[in-house]
Amino acid sequence: MDPASVKRELRKSIIGKRDALSVEFRASLSSVITGKMKGLDAYRRAEIVLAYMSFGSEFGTDEFAKDVLENGKALVLPKLNGERSGLDLYLVTDLSDGLEAGAWGIREPRGGARIEDFSLIDFILVPGVAFSREGGRLGYGGGFYDRLLVNKRIDSAAVAAAYSLQVVEKVPIEENDVFVDGVITESGEYFRNREIQ
Ligand SMILES: Nc1ncnc2c1ncn2[C@@H]1O[C@H](COP(=O)(O)OP(=O)(O)O)[C@@H](O)[C@H]1O
Ligand SMILES: [Mg+2]
Repeated sequence: MDPASVKRELRKSIIGKRDALSVEFRASLSSVITGKMKGLDAYRRAEIVLAYMSFGSEFGTDEFAKDVLENGKALVLPKLNGERSGLDLYLVTDLSDGLEAGAWGIREPRGGARIEDFSLIDFILVPGVAFSREGGRLGYGGGFYDRLLVNKRIDSAAVAAAYSLQVVEKVPIEENDVFVDGVITESGEYFRNREIQ
């Protein structure tokens, strides 16, 4: 099978397993994972944090996003730009008022101050479907975070928060795929880069 087909199959399988978890169980796992995220050195040091608003059965990011604001850090969220098939980044100061449902019902910033310079971001919470312990990442198939992370500042931290069922032995890696620096689950932490712990 070619890598694109392997990716498709793996996406289907992992999303199926993730969808099968109850809402309550997902919430309890998300809470444990968020606690670990908050303790990461790279996060504690970060002044500008790019997060995303979770949808479906993903790790729930609400508590994390709230923590960013409560700790006086700048919260940046992505908004799909269909025209250039990329993500635009916006500063968000209020989670209850600053968001609206965008493509696929994902909550996005309404607007506001756009962050054009990706190198300003210190910590990136990276979404995805499956991860390897080495930081290999399988996304939803749009390649959006591959295109974003390729411009990452070398000393910023890109960390995925995911349920342990999303960690697999091997993720198919193609030319444009970008690795994350860390993967945090309810039962494990995997780092490529010691600095972020
Ligand atoms: N930096 C990039 N420049 C151009 N195309 C890219 C880039 N990164 C990813 N892509 C393309 O986006 C598409 C989806 O990538 P894929 O890795 O399958 O998705 P995902 O990362 O969301 O799982 C692929 O055709 C891939 O080549
Ligand atoms: Mg990819």
